[in-house]
Amino acid sequence: MRELAVESAYVQSRLALSLRPEGWSIIVGDALLVLKSIDPDTFRCCVTSPPYWGLRDYGVAGQIGGENELDDYIENLVNVFREVRRVLTEDGTLWLNLGDSYTSGNRTWRATDKKNPAREMSYRPPTPRGLKPKDLIGVPWRVAFALQADGWYLRADIIWHKPNCQPESVRDRPTIAHEYIFLLSKSEKYFYDYEAVKEPARKPGTSRNRRTVWRIRTRPYPEAHFATFPPRLAEPCVLAGSEAGDAVLDPFFGSGTVGEVCVKLGRKFTGIEIKEEYAALARRRLGWEE
Ligand SMILES: C[S@@+](CC[C@H](N)C(=O)[O-])C[C@H]1O[C@@H](n2cnc3c(N)ncnc32)[C@H](O)[C@@H]1O
Repeated sequence: MRELAVESAYVQSRLALSLRPEGWSIIVGDALLVLKSIDPDTFRCCVTSPPYWGLRDYGVAGQIGGENELDDYIENLVNVFREVRRVLTEDGTLWLNLGDSYTSGNRTWRATDKKNPAREMSYRPPTPRGLKPKDLIGVPWRVAFALQADGWYLRADIIWHKPNCQPESVRDRPTIAHEYIFLLSKSEKYFYDYEAVKEPARKPGTSRNRRTVWRIRTRPYPEAHFATFPPRLAEPCVLAGSEAGDAVLDPFFGSGTVGEVCVKLGRKFTGIEIKEEYAALARRRLGWEE
């Protein structure tokens, strides 16, 4: 990985860097600002899960997901991922995990969720224009289409089927048991290690091209009071999107799941995280500090 060229004084004043000689780094800062300071062609792939719209309050200025308007949330993500595209190699890919949500029905706050304290929001965004109370918003697809319009190639929608999904107290629709992972590429032709992610076929001892439904149990990281994705979800993304020794990016690093997977699979990585507390958690997870 090339050296991070940190140009802007503003970014420099905010950045707290943890760099490892192995090519592993965690940067504390705002994803957009930090990305602007990174050289083009630095990463082979990006595997990430941005904050979902209106679901969690991470309690930090500049956080994405707390926008009052859905369009602002989408625009902020498009801006971040435009920078991601710039820092990817020409054959690079983006593996983007997103879940959907419902309009608030014009409630303006979300009650405390005892099982999941980070879900408590001091506000709830209003129903977006054109939608009605109780509508499924379709956030993942809206983001995917906006990224496509911005120049990304939208190559696959992968369903992450969660067999142990959160129960919901609803009686007028099925319980949500899936999220999306979009595979997007910078160019028409791109690196995809088909062999590395093949799955077993029916005939014993044979394998086939991986399918678009991945059945993976959620596995919260014990110390993290926010949505983490399980290592088993990040693994096929890293395996298909990079080769050993390549550098992988996660601009919304959280507890550092992508970092852990990269260490295991022999990749370099850069994680960007706006909240120092979460970056510290990731460093502990990776055994960098007590
Ligand atoms: C859904 S969590 C990512 C969880 C991660 N995949 C894991 O497994 O731990 C999203 C993360 O994005 C961070 N975040 C929010 N806004 C950000 C921003 N503008 N720049 C960088 N990180 C941000 C949040 O603090 C949170 O840790």
